[in-house]
Amino acid sequence: MDFEKVAKQLANPSGKFGVDVALGMNTMNEFISKTTYELLKIKDNESVLEIGLGNGKFIKDILNYGSGIHFTGIDISKTMITEAKNNNSYLIETGYVDLFDADVEKIPVWDETFDKICTINTIYFWKNPVKALKEIYRVLNQNGILIVSFRPFIKGQTLNFTKYGFKEYRTEDFESLIQQTSFKIIEKIEKTEPEVEFNGQKHNLLSKYFIVKKLPPTKN
Ligand SMILES: C[S@@+](CC[C@H](N)C(=O)[O-])C[C@H]1O[C@@H](n2cnc3c(N)ncnc32)[C@H](O)[C@@H]1O
Repeated sequence: MDFEKVAKQLANPSGKFGVDVALGMNTMNEFISKTTYELLKIKDNESVLEIGLGNGKFIKDILNYGSGIHFTGIDISKTMITEAKNNNSYLIETGYVDLFDADVEKIPVWDETFDKICTINTIYFWKNPVKALKEIYRVLNQNGILIVSFRPFIKGQTLNFTKYGFKEYRTEDFESLIQQTSFKIIEKIEKTEPEVEFNGQKHNLLSKYFIVKKLPPTKN
């Protein structure tokens, strides 16, 4: 397997290969995704954003947390947004799901639109993480919750493709990143994931979930 090619697709899936890689992500990332949604504690009528949602396999799970939930998904990959639209056309028709191809640095909505925001396995690829977090701050409601989930020390974990193009975050790296923003970490959770198989090898991955809140805006 060409791990460099796979890594490029994970950062921005495109074409037929990108579609196939995204199907693999659904299996590999089901636990970290569903754990994140659970931690968001989504309630009736809340507005939820997922950044870098891939092919949108789990949108229905998010909507099932209550009634009147509005879901928005963005992804930098046009291929993923097309896939997510095809996979969820029946939900889009209800008017409760919006999907956009967009970069985390430029989210196409008004200020303070969302009650809950999550992003799973995407921070490794953000070009300017401080700018990205400032943009997330802009679109999150004042009492909203952000969860950033990722696999720490990812290059030290057993997935070979992470050697290519992945920026590695340890807990301290994420904490010092947050200190450069007007967010505050309120909880850190670590989980050993159930064993998953990739490329004929079994993996016992470790994931982290940072629950983050907005500090009041500063005057300047
Ligand atoms: C490794 S995949 C993870 C997909 C899904 N969240 C999961 O855990 O299975 C990373 C996703 O983030 C998207 N992505 C990468 N950089 C992004 C950015 N700057 N803004 C929005 N999406 C981005 C990629 O296109 C890709 O779909």
